[in-house]
Amino acid sequence: MKKLFALLALAGLANVAAAADIVGDAKAAESKVSMCIGCHSIPGYKATYPEVFSVPMIGGQSGKYIENALNAYKKGERKHPTMRGVAAGLSDQDIADVAAYYSQMK
Ligand code: HEC
Repeated sequence: MKKLFALLALAGLANVAAAADIVGDAKAAESKVSMCIGCHSIPGYKATYPEVFSVPMIGGQSGKYIENALNAYKKGERKHPTMRGVAAGLSDQDIADVAAYYSQMK
């Protein structure tokens, strides 16, 4: 338990350092993820089109992974046109919030 706590504290510090004081707020993300839901299959939202299976599941991924992916789309390092469009409309704070939201999803 103590070990886990230390790990969490470390992870928190690393996040803050990397994101230049931007801290993701999962609660604030709730209004921002409504547009992601249509495409990304998430637990509790399984009743959707078959096409959803060609879209990566992002719920439960690490926040850092989601943040990196979104930043890569935003910068054009990742080429998928749809996700580039989505990511371009997100601020750094939005990305941090959304990453926190999806990483806390089980
Ligand atoms: C119109 C459909 C659509 C919408 C809306 C959408 N996505 Fe995506 N997303 C995709 C597709 C398709 C991919 C796979 C793209 C690729 O192959 O690079 C993807 C990939 C991703 C990835 C990378 C996953 C991985 O494992 O590589 C992340 C993270 C992501 N989306 C987050 C989001 C978030 C957060 C939102 C809402 C702000 C969102 N997406 C909205 C269709 C969508």
